[in-house]
Amino acid sequence: MTKGPIGVFDSGYGGLTVLKEIAVKLPEYDYIYLGDNARAPYGPRSFETIYQYTLQCVEWFFKQGCPLVILACNTASAKALRSIQQINLPTIDPAKRVLGVIRPTSEIIGKFTHSNKVGVLGTAGTIQSLSYPIEIEKFYPDITVYQQACPMWVPLVENNEYTSEGADYFINKYLQQILSQSNDIDTLLLACTHYPLLIDKIKGFIPANITVLSQGKIVANSLLNYLERHQEIAELCTKNGQSTFYTTDSTEDFDQKASIFYGKPVRSIHLIL
Ligand code: DGL
Repeated sequence: MTKGPIGVFDSGYGGLTVLKEIAVKLPEYDYIYLGDNARAPYGPRSFETIYQYTLQCVEWFFKQGCPLVILACNTASAKALRSIQQINLPTIDPAKRVLGVIRPTSEIIGKFTHSNKVGVLGTAGTIQSLSYPIEIEKFYPDITVYQQACPMWVPLVENNEYTSEGADYFINKYLQQILSQSNDIDTLLLACTHYPLLIDKIKGFIPANITVLSQGKIVANSLLNYLERHQEIAELCTKNGQSTFYTTDSTEDFDQKASIFYGKPVRSIHLIL
């Protein structure tokens, strides 16, 4: 079995908010990041389309030698992960692993809520899939999950309009919609890897007693734990502390915007799938 880097996937830039935290927690590993920017956003697309796009990207990671791929995208985790794990992995290579971001977040959410009322904000795809209510119920049957799709938030972030005054209207709109579902929501989960960029604005529109959770650190801690428990996978991951970035769209655009998400300069390579 050949060794290789850990693959980190998102439809665009959002997964960089996750890779950033993973690389802090596990700096010794090598990473390949792929943003499918040419086909983003995934949020409004059909199940079949998201599944096909994600599978194609996962197969590409495997060709690069990745033993483990993290879908650092809630939409892909909600719409494609289970099918890839159950239908594709057994035939492609049963020794490879693909993990998502919904389970690690659902596992830990009960530690943050006292009222047992949690709000989940995500893309239309993630919300319609009901993945969060289903997963959270498995770990915390007493928690009630309220959901709100925020279809304008990814475009605001992708178009670098998220700090503008115009963004305020849509940020506040979806927050009021979710908070109007229950007075007792004390935890709001940013269930889209693009949303951490909106966190300051979000906090400005909601009562101070509500905890706003983003997923980067949660997923990084969960991966650390996973690699400790699965030495056979950890041993297949190369450790030179290097990260390589690929985008399916313009590298100039990617490099310009990616640093906002990643917090460091990024030089990407163009990938034609
Ligand atoms: N970052 C993706 C997520 O976590 C959504 C972006 C998109 O709609 O493509 O769901």
